[in-house]
Amino acid sequence: MNNASVENQSTNVNRPEPVVRMEDCSISFGGIHAVDNASLSLCKGEVVALLGHNGAGKSTFIKLLSGAYKRDTGTIHIRGEQATINNPRDAKAYGIETIYQTLALADNVDTAANLYLGRELRTAWGTLDDVAMEARAREVMGRLNPRFQRFKEPVKALSGGQRQSVAIARAILFDAQILIMDEPTAALGPQETAQVGELIKQLKDDGISIFLISHDIDDVFDLADHVAVMKNGQMVGTAPVTDVTRDEVLGMIILGKCPPGATPGPGALRDGTVSQ
Ligand SMILES: Nc1ncnc2c1ncn2[C@@H]1O[C@H](COP(=O)(O)OP(=O)(O)O)[C@@H](O)[C@H]1O
Ligand SMILES: [Mg+2]
Repeated sequence: MNNASVENQSTNVNRPEPVVRMEDCSISFGGIHAVDNASLSLCKGEVVALLGHNGAGKSTFIKLLSGAYKRDTGTIHIRGEQATINNPRDAKAYGIETIYQTLALADNVDTAANLYLGRELRTAWGTLDDVAMEARAREVMGRLNPRFQRFKEPVKALSGGQRQSVAIARAILFDAQILIMDEPTAALGPQETAQVGELIKQLKDDGISIFLISHDIDDVFDLADHVAVMKNGQMVGTAPVTDVTRDEVLGMIILGKCPPGATPGPGALRDGTVSQ
């Protein structure tokens, strides 16, 4: 048996090393434990949905991965190796990109300019290479949203769903392997929400791993492989979506009650009390 087949065999029996493994991560602001010993993993091509009430600590937790905040304690492994993530630049170097709810697009310029904002392509003469940027923008947008044709318009003229695809295109343009989406559909109507759902499925098919923060339990059950619920900065539990019902997930969010199909975290309610 050659080495390759030995390797294949071993990866078949063992669960693959997660692309992201966050362990016992904490951060406090003043006296508030915004994130308290939270752990969560993400495998290649998976969507892991992070749920919880407002103020539960979801955004803060993923900001520890995106480098927006530096954690007080805990470790982060990326593709099996301990990672140093102290700022957004560090995170980008690991192929981690974040799409915030606000999208942070430059409204007055077109799609190609937004895709290359701050990292513009230049010609050999040092001028902006608009031709190359537009060609690449058409290629990436064509893959994400084949019907999109409004390349010459400022992004403020685009619909919410189209703007979302520009933000996603910008994230994957530089080969993001790990995508963090914080409430991507919060400001969108039903049709555009469905469009973003299609984008997420496509990214997943391309092997991109996604942390998806969402309030929409239907979206979560439609898109996610695993759910993770936070409450008061703590992880209530994680579960494959196939092992929990919508009502059980609501029970995790509202009561902190961990159902049998989920793996409890430090924030799980047990016998009427939150375990420590
Ligand atoms: N920069 C900050 N300074 C002080 N408190 C913060 C900061 N960011 C978040 N928090 C607090 O941390 C807690 C978790 O917030 P957040 O992560 O935004 O929750 P979620 O995204 O689940 O709604 C909240 O109590 C919030 O007020
Ligand atoms: Mg948030």
